[in-house]
Amino acid sequence: MEQTTNLEFERTMRMDWEKGLLLPNADVRESVKTLGQLESIFLNEKDRRAMDPATVVYRVQAWCPVPEGTEGAQFWGSTVIEPGQVDTEYFMTHGHFHSKRDRTEYYATIEGEGALILMDESRKTWMEPMFPGSLHFVPPSVAHRVANSGKVPLRVVACWPSDAGHDYDVVRRFGFGARLLNVNGKASLVRSGN
Ligand code: F6R
Ligand code: ZN
Repeated sequence: MEQTTNLEFERTMRMDWEKGLLLPNADVRESVKTLGQLESIFLNEKDRRAMDPATVVYRVQAWCPVPEGTEGAQFWGSTVIEPGQVDTEYFMTHGHFHSKRDRTEYYATIEGEGALILMDESRKTWMEPMFPGSLHFVPPSVAHRVANSGKVPLRVVACWPSDAGHDYDVVRRFGFGARLLNVNGKASLVRSGN
């Protein structure tokens, strides 16, 4: 078979599909978010401040084969959200809109349980349960975050356009319209003012 290669994009990455992680190499960007970095994200800010700021809430890997902002390509990422709560609120990602609001995204769950929390620009907020094998489409103009309501790390993978960009500001200032809380042992999406 004749093989053609575009050297510019000749990269084969490897996934550990059991864990939903990219095997680290020079092309994989890794970052960690701790409780100390998630100021004013959780409802009970007093409880968050009383906890160890070094506590890891989630880890992110991203494979960006082209420069950010390039039109027409896609990025691949992996997020692991630790089990835990701030007061009754489950550990979760910061959450964001895409800067280009019409850019969408896929999320899939590898292990664990939780919720993909979604909010449109009118602040209407809803959730989709996440469980091993669940596959989710984030529509245009919808902010998204992932919360872990289980007892083990919630492992998800995602794929999004390379020119989507991330707008964290709206979520930092106003939050989502609802929060995933542990209400008598059951994960419930509770409406909130912020
Ligand atoms: C990319 C995307 C995910 C998140 C990751 C961390 O568009 O949605 O890869 O970036 O789950 O969440 P944030 O970015 O909200 O801290
Ligand atoms: Zn996104």
